[in-house]
Parts: sequence; structure tokens; C-alpha cells
Amino acid sequence: MINKPRGTEDILPEDSPLWRKIERTAHEVCENFGFKEIRTPVFEDTNLFQRGVGDTTDVVQKEMYTFEDKGGRSITLRPEGTASVARSFIEHSLYAGPQPTKLYYIISCYRYEKPQSGRLREFHQFGIECLGSSSPATDAEIITLALTFFKRLGITDLKLNLNSIGCPECKKEYNEKLREYFKQYENELCDTCKTRLERNPMRIIDCKSEVCSKIAEGAPKMIDFLCDECREHFDKTCKYLDSVGVEYVIDPNIVRGLDYYTRTVFEITSDALGAQSTVCGGGRYNGLIEEIGGKPTEGIGFALGIERLVMIMKAQGFTGDVASGTDIFIGSIGDKADIAASVLVYNLRLNGINAERDLLGRSVKAQMKYANKIGSRFSMVLGEDEVDSMQANLKNMETGETVSVKLNADEIAKLL
Ligand code: HAM
Repeated sequence: MINKPRGTEDILPEDSPLWRKIERTAHEVCENFGFKEIRTPVFEDTNLFQRGVGDTTDVVQKEMYTFEDKGGRSITLRPEGTASVARSFIEHSLYAGPQPTKLYYIISCYRYEKPQSGRLREFHQFGIECLGSSSPATDAEIITLALTFFKRLGITDLKLNLNSIGCPECKKEYNEKLREYFKQYENELCDTCKTRLERNPMRIIDCKSEVCSKIAEGAPKMIDFLCDECREHFDKTCKYLDSVGVEYVIDPNIVRGLDYYTRTVFEITSDALGAQSTVCGGGRYNGLIEEIGGKPTEGIGFALGIERLVMIMKAQGFTGDVASGTDIFIGSIGDKADIAASVLVYNLRLNGINAERDLLGRSVKAQMKYANKIGSRFSMVLGEDEVDSMQANLKNMETGETVSVKLNADEIAKLL
């Protein structure tokens, strides 16, 4: 027997309604906020993530599904959506349209991580990206979109944590302070973090190794080193959030795991999740578009993990959209009626009716048992007489009432 690959999940029919509810709500809320859907390829040129996400990040250094295709190109399954959206923005000159460019996506992502509850190798994200606005009002709007989405779903007990990690200018001084701090513990750091010490000491802060994260607890905080413009941007973002009554906690420990972030970063957490408590993460990335070959363009966005969201919803007792179920089951006795049933079912389905028939050659008694089991609202049995007279009894399965009807799909459809 062949099993699913480690770190992947099958979404079975019993869970699909919850996924559909999440996806439907995402489409609706994005529409309310003026975001348009974008779909990009599952795989991209490896360079895109190396340059976009950053080659000192855990994602690029340890977690990418990278392979050479038959044409000798280095290809990577997308570990996230932002870099692909940024590439598409440049490639299709989306900056030439009305600005800012507001996009959203619902995608699968791939990271070679150690699987555990809420951490998979194939997972799904609902994410948004707003490109071309540097205003702190945009930061607040993006955060509000995430919160509106959760609210619309009815999810409670979420915490919004906010921080600013400054711009390349104020990061310079901060990085010096970080190097000084981590230098004292150089021998204790993991091998990857030893190499990060010179190149990008901020990455040590979100290293998953226990020793490194313990050491990082005492590290200086970026929020204490913000330049005047970054401080003003952060204060204004908070003011916009305050004005719409959004509650948040300023958490100086949030640095995010991807290199493209500048200024505002945020995470939304839930106690229902255990160790992997972050359901949504995002922030501003003012240097990304330029980094991957476009004109300097500011950006901000977030992505939330759908599997983690499903875990929260299950813990909070949610069920999904109720499937509409079977409208009518057409039973049959004998070969002639079997053909007539298949024609009737075909024509009812063309009319948008959820119609079923027997596909296993069961006795009429067993067919009716099946109709009951699947909860069909109506049923009908066709035998030779019914086919010859083109007339049959339509039975309401709940009340037991029957009416005689013509074997005509349009007329039956009107009665269901
Ligand atoms: P991220 O924090 O790497 O950010 O991922 C966003 C969310 O995806 C996480 O909060 C989590 O819910 C989910 N997630 C991440 N990795 C896994 C995993 N291995 N298994 C299950 N769920 C996972 C980004 O991806 C950025 N692109 C977000 C962004 C958009 N920033 C700006 N724009």
C-alpha cells in the first residue's frame, strides 16, 4: 500500500465544507476591500525565492523543494506567495494600472519542515498583497482586512501582535548591536546561525533551534532603534488601528522569518493552536520589488494558514457550509426502466437538480434503502408500466406523500 507523503494531508469530504466556507468568506471579504484574485504557478525559478525571500532565511537555506527539470533549470515549489505576486506585478506591468495594486490568492505552499501539529510540508494559504502605497493607512487597512475575515467567520479569542522592524537605514545600527550581543554566545549558536552572525544577525532571532531561541530572548529589540520616519510610520499605523477600535499588543520580539520585511510586521495568534500558535503573519516589504528587478515599489500583505484556521474552527465547534444533498433518487426495475432512469437523471441534472440513480444493480428494496441513507428528499421507482405510460409516483421521503407525475424532467424539476 502506498501512503501519502510525510507532511501532507488529504482533505476528505467531511472537512471540505469547512474549507469551502473559508474560501467563500475570503473571496467575499477581499471583494469588500477592493482586492482582485491572482493565480500564479506552483513552481518558479529558484532565483526568485533566493533573492525575494532571502538566502539567509530558514525557508531558503533548509526548507525549499528545489529540483532540476528536464531542461536543466533550477525549479522550486513555491514556499509562499508574496515573491510570486511581486514577480507577476513586474512581469505584467501591473504598476501601469490604477494604484495601489490590490491582489489576493488562495494557494498551496511547500516547505520541507519537520512535520508536527499545525506544521506541514504541503499547506495552504489565503494571502493578500497591496503594492504601490507607502501610507500607514494601508498598513492599518491590511490588518483590518485580516481581522474582518476572522470576524466574518465568527472566530473569537485571537490576538494581534504588532511590531516595526525599521528600514535598511535604522537596521544598520541595530545589526551592529545584535552582532555585539550574539558574539558573546558564538560558540553556543547552531552552525547555520554562526554563518548568520556576520551576514544577517536578525535571522538568529527566529531560528527554530532551542539553544538559539533561548539566547535570542535577551537580544536588543529593533523597536528601540527606529529612525524618526520609521517611528512616525509605526505611530500613525497604531493611530489608524485605534481609530477603528482594533485591539493589539506591541510585541518587540516579532521579526518574521522572511528577509523582505521592512517597518510594520504583525502576527495573529490563537491559543487553540498549541506550539504553532500563529495563524496569520504579514508585514511591509518596501525593498522586495526592487530586489527582484522592478522599479522601487512599496508593498504590504499577509498570509494565513488554512490548515491552522481549520484547527481553530474545529476547536471552536464550527461546521462548514451545509452541502445541498440529493433532491431525488430514481429507482428502477428491469433493463427498460434502467435506461429510462438514466435518461431522466441526466435531464434532471441538466435542470440543476441533484439527482441520483442505482449504479450497482441492486434490488429495488436495496435501492430505496440507499435513497434513505443518502437523505434524498424525493424518490420515484420506474418499472415497465411507468415507462410505457410515461407516468410515475413522486414520493416525498419525509412525509411519505405521493403524487402522480409525467416522466418529464422539466415538470418534475418544478415540483422539487
Ligand atoms: P509566513 O509567516 O511564512 O508568511 O506564513 C504565513 C502563515 O502560513 C503562517 O502564519 C502559518 O499559518 C502558515 N504556515 C507557514 N508555514 C506553515 C507550515 N509549514 N504548515 C502549516 N502552515 C504554515 C508568509 O508566507 C508571507 N508570504 C506572508 C506575507 C504576505 N507577508 C507579506 N505578504
